[in-house]
Amino acid sequence: MMTQPPAHELIQKRVSCRSYTGETLEHGLREAMDTVVSTEGPGLFGSNLRFKLATAAPNDTDSLKGLGTYGFIKGASAFIIGAVAPSEKNLEDYGYAMEKIILHATGLGLGTCWLGGSFDRSRFAQKINCKPDERVPAVAALGHKADKRRLFDKTVRLIARSTKRKAFQELFFDRDFGRPLAPDQCGPFALPLDMVRLGPSASNKQPWRIIRDADPNVFHLFLERTKNYYENNRRMFGLMDIQRIDMGIAMCHFDMACKDADIPGAWKIDPPTGLNLPRRASYVSTWGAA
Ligand SMILES: Cc1cc2nc3c(=O)[nH]c(=O)nc-3n(C[C@H](O)[C@H](O)[C@H](O)COP(=O)(O)O)c2cc1C
Repeated sequence: MMTQPPAHELIQKRVSCRSYTGETLEHGLREAMDTVVSTEGPGLFGSNLRFKLATAAPNDTDSLKGLGTYGFIKGASAFIIGAVAPSEKNLEDYGYAMEKIILHATGLGLGTCWLGGSFDRSRFAQKINCKPDERVPAVAALGHKADKRRLFDKTVRLIARSTKRKAFQELFFDRDFGRPLAPDQCGPFALPLDMVRLGPSASNKQPWRIIRDADPNVFHLFLERTKNYYENNRRMFGLMDIQRIDMGIAMCHFDMACKDADIPGAWKIDPPTGLNLPRRASYVSTWGAA
């Protein structure tokens, strides 16, 4: 398998691509992606998940419009589709694994775009032979990037404010919420934290928050939900709780950046006590010595 650039380069290179050339993937690229996709699973927290690379059929992109996705895709030659069984951290696991695949595709020079939708009874679910107890919470478009972005693509990026990310100090805190952490206070963790900050998220809401513990090698991840986002998406489109997928993406970026920097540690469940949680914030996971 081709060696991949370091995670921080891939993370900074990846952007959502909504305009593709329509060309099918060359044999070598297809094989490389097939290998990566088929080796993912089980999830970080043990969820039962699996992925498949499916060639795009003529009506696939049109069918996306009825499934609650936004920012319509043009010319994708394939889709990465996953299915996950129910478990407590299944959506976080799904986000982690799919993002790893997406970053690999980025390293191969391909364009990708996360698509959150109600795929369970769609042609995408059929392509992966989704079993009755499985769900398809999101898929990713894949293909060769078109040279020029369509006006529509640019408009979607503008509406989602895709190039904008919240400041470091709005997302990361020292020992409790309300005590902003600056990059120069984080030692070797400044880069992994920044990689969380640059991650993709549904509608670019950036709901991840991280508290550094009194032990400076321990970090607690929280989901600060966007008001009514899940409720409205579920009611209108039957979407799953896709901000939990954003949490998996954050864990993936943090992990990959730490691995590249030889910082030992892993994600686990070890909730801190006595914090002043904002109203819509809930605990997700803790990174620390394995
Ligand atoms: C879980 C999830 C679901 C998403 N769903 C869609 C979608 O349905 N349509 C779309 O065009 N982009 C979708 N995106 C892409 C985001 O809009 C995009 O990541 C964000 O605006 C940041 O832009 P960037 O990816 O170019 O950095 C999704 C991203 C995530 C993580």
